Amino acid sequence: MKRTQVVIIGAGPAGLLLGNLLDKHNIDNVIVERQSADYVLARIRAGILEQTTVDMMHEVGAAQRLVEEGIKHHGVNIAFDKKMESIPLGASTGGKVVTAYGQTEVTKDLYDLRLSHQSAIFYEASDVMPHDFDSDSPSVSFTYHGQAYQISCDIIVGCDGYHGVSRACVPEKAIQTYEKIYPFGWLGLLSDTPPVAHEVVYGNDARGFALCSMRSLTRSRYYIQCDLTDHVDQWSDDAFWDELRRRLPVELAEAMVTGPSLEKSIAPLRSFVAEPIRFGRLLLAGDAAHVVPPTGAKGLNLAFSDIHYLMKALSAYFADGDDSALTDYSQAALARVWKTERFSWYLTNLTHRFNDDPFEQKMKEAELAYITSSEAGRISLAENYVGLPL
Ligand code: APR
Ligand code: PHB
Repeated sequence: MKRTQVVIIGAGPAGLLLGNLLDKHNIDNVIVERQSADYVLARIRAGILEQTTVDMMHEVGAAQRLVEEGIKHHGVNIAFDKKMESIPLGASTGGKVVTAYGQTEVTKDLYDLRLSHQSAIFYEASDVMPHDFDSDSPSVSFTYHGQAYQISCDIIVGCDGYHGVSRACVPEKAIQTYEKIYPFGWLGLLSDTPPVAHEVVYGNDARGFALCSMRSLTRSRYYIQCDLTDHVDQWSDDAFWDELRRRLPVELAEAMVTGPSLEKSIAPLRSFVAEPIRFGRLLLAGDAAHVVPPTGAKGLNLAFSDIHYLMKALSAYFADGDDSALTDYSQAALARVWKTERFSWYLTNLTHRFNDDPFEQKMKEAELAYITSSEAGRISLAENYVGLPL
């Protein structure tokens, strides 16, 4: 293949969703991915979907399994001071809820849909490189099965994650980046055990943050705040379960069903935004453009909202060559990105231990008491947790 309308770099959830939506709108596209399909499909990430994310899975035609297997959550729990408070989601948000359904499953559903379209997707492509995106004739080159390819196109979309090549090839003077690295990591454990609570629990304890989540009624996902210097091999399953229980209110700790880990890993926490996210004929989306810390599970949801704005821009661009639609993309997507960055940063600050000075710690305790006891506080948390409107 020598030419297409859109080359998408990266086949994570952002790239796959975009490719499927473009297929649906009869806009010709090619996806180029560095890793193998097996590798991409095995990655374990968060699993709480906003309503607009679920809506987009419906729109693209990939929601069948999500409807059958996703678990709707009508509330979210905040634990602190050895007590747990439940915050209802629907009452203050016009009935919106979130759905527990793993990002791994979202990726698989989008992958299966893509295969059914038989549109081009190159896995295990190496040396992927965007070219001439400041001109009217951009292209993407790569090596696939030992053969060199160069595909010319109208638009390149970088959906290649934080470490991808797309953002890296933008001239330094054309882009501004904002970043915050948090001084701790998350140690996560997946197990075939029933979840300890019906809905997600965010726990702030003197020993550190703890999170109880789920993938199904028989599969749980738990996290604890850990030191950045910790190595996963230092944490036996028993040590993880003991530490998790110590950080939770007694009733939860006693109800916890433990079991062998299916997966255990440590992830760092980062807030990052690039501005703008359109450079001529190169547009960035998802983790290539911004990263949130996992508190609040906004990463996938934000990638999906980018694709919502991007589809609007690309539809206008291909319908009538409207170049300003591409500029609008950057502004529209980033307006929502910054608000969601704020919420992810806020929830991280509120629920983690930073070796704060005693005054800062007292402020967090007061904030926790406020948002769980005041209606205005609960509404603010709920409206951000279910996802701000697109
Ligand atoms: N060439 C081609 N593909 C690349 C390159 C490259 N140089 N660099 C990275 N990729 C691929 C990665 O292998 C990965 O499959 O781009 C994909 C990016 O996928 P994600 O990192 O999942 O990013 P995104 O699709 O934006 O999804 C955002 O998913 O990854 C989580 O934490 C993230 O929750 C967030 C959401
Ligand atoms: C998860 O289920 O993995 C999860 C849930 C909520 C979060 C982060 C991760 O805030």
